Amino acid sequence: MEVTSCHAYKINDSRGDETLEVEMFAGEFSAKASVPSGKSTGSREAVALSADEAIKNVNEVVAPQLVGREVNFSEIDKFLLELDGTENKSELGANAILGLSIAVLKLEAKIEGQPLWQYIQSLGCSTSKDSGDNSIRFPRLFANVLNGGTHADFRLPFQEYMFVLGNGLNVAGPVEQLKVLFEQLGKKLKKNGKEIKMGDEGGFSFKSDNIEEPFDILSELHNKLALDVAGGEFFENGKYRIFDKEYSSGELLEIYENLVKKFPIVSIEDPFSENDFNGFKQVMEKTGEIVLIVGDDLTTTNVKMIEKTIEEKMINAVLIKPNQIGTVTETLEAIQMTHKAGLKTIISHRSGETEDSFIADLAVGVGAYGIKAGAISQLERMTKYDRLIEIEKEVGKC
Ligand code: PGA
Ligand code: ZN
Repeated sequence: MEVTSCHAYKINDSRGDETLEVEMFAGEFSAKASVPSGKSTGSREAVALSADEAIKNVNEVVAPQLVGREVNFSEIDKFLLELDGTENKSELGANAILGLSIAVLKLEAKIEGQPLWQYIQSLGCSTSKDSGDNSIRFPRLFANVLNGGTHADFRLPFQEYMFVLGNGLNVAGPVEQLKVLFEQLGKKLKKNGKEIKMGDEGGFSFKSDNIEEPFDILSELHNKLALDVAGGEFFENGKYRIFDKEYSSGELLEIYENLVKKFPIVSIEDPFSENDFNGFKQVMEKTGEIVLIVGDDLTTTNVKMIEKTIEEKMINAVLIKPNQIGTVTETLEAIQMTHKAGLKTIISHRSGETEDSFIADLAVGVGAYGIKAGAISQLERMTKYDRLIEIEKEVGKC
């Protein structure tokens, strides 16, 4: 079937910032996709243009050349990459490209009559495929509950404090557990007299001048914690600045070693700034046996960086954000490379999210180890959790 029409228009994301939604038609079939945006971005990410520019590019540059093409996401991704012609997608905009790329994949799945996760699974990036195991894996929830860093005016030093829930076998149960824990956490913070605000990803934020305090509170409620430090956000002139004190990379490493000894931390994302390669190597050496060291701004869903950082033993898990790279094809290549190297993937939303639940289908389709979808408080995050639960039901029917 061929694309019969395609257009983009403006919507608002969870921060109230403008972004684009793309709608694509093929005969009686249609699909929509919208694009999130990050705030603590890595410098190696593909370039997003303003919503106006991206929309103009979709409607005036791409759409006229797209109509009449076969609905085939990998062919259309190739066409988009050629049309853009830049390394960082700055001509059409990575946001314009991703909206189109996801929309065509969704359209293709609909035409094939398959749920999106199942269609993605058939493309063959899953870990279970390699082992000949056809069972469906559900991602563990890396669920944001406390927001700090640039997502909450540095009221807490690190960007995200998460509960990790689930064991890969189901998802509705862990989502229920998360709801209960999130409510308990809110009550606990109030009881402790904290003035609570809400961070960008819907988690609580409170003012603290003690690195250990958030972990004290969280570990009383749950025994698997994860952290996204977003180390580049407080890195200035070769030093890491926390509560007006400066730490060298080695001193920050000691902080992590102590935190890991004292609290049930199972995963640390971006513990250092994106170019502090030695920091990553050191933390892997000291804690990599027991903790996931996850690359995000370090790796930016880019196969070249993923290959380098795996080879140089800087990480043992990779965060995957489709809008860091710009097409579904490249996102799947990044996932495949990570899984082939025997490492884990965590599929992630962005801090400025839309109601598009694509990442839920992606996470199940590729058998990702985890998903980061935010706190269970904002609609834009809930749509991902709701979709995971829906997928669990669809799996039951297959
Ligand atoms: P961002 O934050 O979307 O603002 O980059 C999310 C993350 O760092 O994982
Ligand atoms: Zn991150």
